[in-house]
Amino acid sequence: MPERPSFQTALIHHDYVAPEGFAAFPQAIHHASTVLFENVAALRDRNWQRKDSYTYGLHGTPTTFTLEARLASIEGGEHCRLAPSGLAAIAMVDFALLKSGDDVLIPDNVYNPSRELADWLAADFGVSVRYYDPLIGTGIGELIQPNTRLIWTEAPGSVSMEVPDLPAICAAAHAKNVLVALDNTWAAGIGLQAFDLGVDIVMQALTKYQSGGSDVLMGAVITRDEALRRRIELAHMRLGFGVGADDVYLVLRSLPTMKLRFEAHDAAAREVAQWLKTQPEIGAVLHPALPDCPGHEIWKRDFSGAGGLFSVLFNPRYTEAQTDRFVDSLKLFKIGFSWGGAHSLCVPYRIEKMRSHWSQQGQLVRFNIGLEDPKDLIADIEQAFSALQK
Ligand SMILES: Cc1ncc(COP(=O)(O)O)c(C=O)c1O
Repeated sequence: MPERPSFQTALIHHDYVAPEGFAAFPQAIHHASTVLFENVAALRDRNWQRKDSYTYGLHGTPTTFTLEARLASIEGGEHCRLAPSGLAAIAMVDFALLKSGDDVLIPDNVYNPSRELADWLAADFGVSVRYYDPLIGTGIGELIQPNTRLIWTEAPGSVSMEVPDLPAICAAAHAKNVLVALDNTWAAGIGLQAFDLGVDIVMQALTKYQSGGSDVLMGAVITRDEALRRRIELAHMRLGFGVGADDVYLVLRSLPTMKLRFEAHDAAAREVAQWLKTQPEIGAVLHPALPDCPGHEIWKRDFSGAGGLFSVLFNPRYTEAQTDRFVDSLKLFKIGFSWGGAHSLCVPYRIEKMRSHWSQQGQLVRFNIGLEDPKDLIADIEQAFSALQK
């Protein structure tokens, strides 16, 4: 730098050095698009896939690498890549593993935007997409074709709540060299250790419990296998799926309380779900920890927790207009998508329009139980039931 740089140059080139000898629990937030190299040799030697050096903000900073390492360890995996949303994480898996002519099997109860993406891959990218009964278990083996590359699972489906038999699906898939990816968002890496059941790729929407604040959109893909890591990272790099450092920090800040929050959501949701089960207005409670839920026995075998998200089917005597009035009459429960935050939410779904096969009767309404006192939530639902009679 010149001895006396101009004012404008001095505004840019200041003598900042990172503080040494400063210790605190929060980690510094590293913002970067440009990452600096010592010299041309270092630039030429760069390798964006290595986590012991930095090349460009898009490929990682100390802040993103820290969250990735922590998520991999929570999930029992080895490698993790962040994406700008849960849906982007799903896209990262699809683009990493599927090409024209390949076949992918997707559960019929899959998160609906994932279905949208898959249908787009089928319509415009030459990928064969087939939907299967989420309770298929070992039967998945019969659906596998020579060109099947990937089986998606979601445990449970986040609207209709069926719990898949992951060990059976993984065994059938691996017998034919097919990879299994799991959307593990519902259990947040706390209620289910998916790699131990044989899953190859775990995807998380960090937007939910990992953020916990209803304010961040982010996703992650976690793997154990080194070759898979490379394929995921290549897709991440090619798609340009960077995440902002401030958002990453918000998730890092929430992680220490995640398990306590998850357990509080779980206890409150079970209390509300048990109460709903005794109400004549409700035809069925679709909560994996309750026997009404398809796949409940599998949940008991494989899961250690449940979180706050579940659905109900209203007694079939109520029309959509009546259950819409019920939802509109809730006061503590707000109407809106997503879950995992402190506020309780409620969404009615036209489930029969989302599925290839749906034969159950009754309007489906999904609850996200937040961190309010469950007694108040029950009282809110009780007062809203009166709207059903109008
Ligand atoms: C099961 C499931 N997977 C993935 C996602 C996508 O997450 P995001 O909203 O961060 O894209 C969601 C969001 O609601 C979800 O419910």
